[in-house]
Amino acid sequence: MSEKIFHYIHHAAFWLEAEGKRALFDPFLDGNPEHLRAQDIDADWIFVSHAHADHLGSAFEIAQRTGATIISTAEICGLAGQAGCASHAMHIGGTHEFAFGKVRIAPAFHGSGVAGGHACGFIVSFFGIRLYYAGDTGLFGDMKWLRSVEPFDVAVLPIGDNYTMGPKDAAIAAAWLGASVVIPVHYNTWPVIAQDPKAFEEAVEKEFDIRVRIVEPGKSVHLS
Ligand code: NI
Ligand code: MN
Repeated sequence: MSEKIFHYIHHAAFWLEAEGKRALFDPFLDGNPEHLRAQDIDADWIFVSHAHADHLGSAFEIAQRTGATIISTAEICGLAGQAGCASHAMHIGGTHEFAFGKVRIAPAFHGSGVAGGHACGFIVSFFGIRLYYAGDTGLFGDMKWLRSVEPFDVAVLPIGDNYTMGPKDAAIAAAWLGASVVIPVHYNTWPVIAQDPKAFEEAVEKEFDIRVRIVEPGKSVHLS
């Protein structure tokens, strides 16, 4: 069994590692505590949830250098192509089998950051890691059925409020999603999204049979 790793860069940027491969998500690097730069990060695939700068980040630069494939909506993949990057365009409700496993594009209620586009989330099966990354989104009722359509064990949810769900709505999302583990992201990057992840953890774990795993920026955890 190879190790399955979740590495939290900071903000909503993280990577998954398994079978010697790496999938990078929303690689916004400005101010990350490890001082990782685009030239420091290798990737095989790069998921981009929407084109706001704090998500698109260094995706194209990393893809140009490493040859990683950008997986995103058609509009962002159009930009990726113009930047000379390999990409695989998908859209909301679509699924595709990649070498690492299946991807389903989930809806997200948020701006796309690109003309004609739509923000999205991802349900990704990455060499056995089954993870839902909500991207930037408000709470929405269809979270109740997501896992019955596409199973996942870990949910990565924004808790920062202001731009996305805050901790209260994210706790409801955690319950509706029914994942066994929730990892909070998209908080404490700036004062306007300052949150106490410990309070979120306590609120969720007191009320629901869900484990909240707080990952410090710059740190890795093992996913079983
Ligand atoms: Ni955004
Ligand atoms: Mn954001």
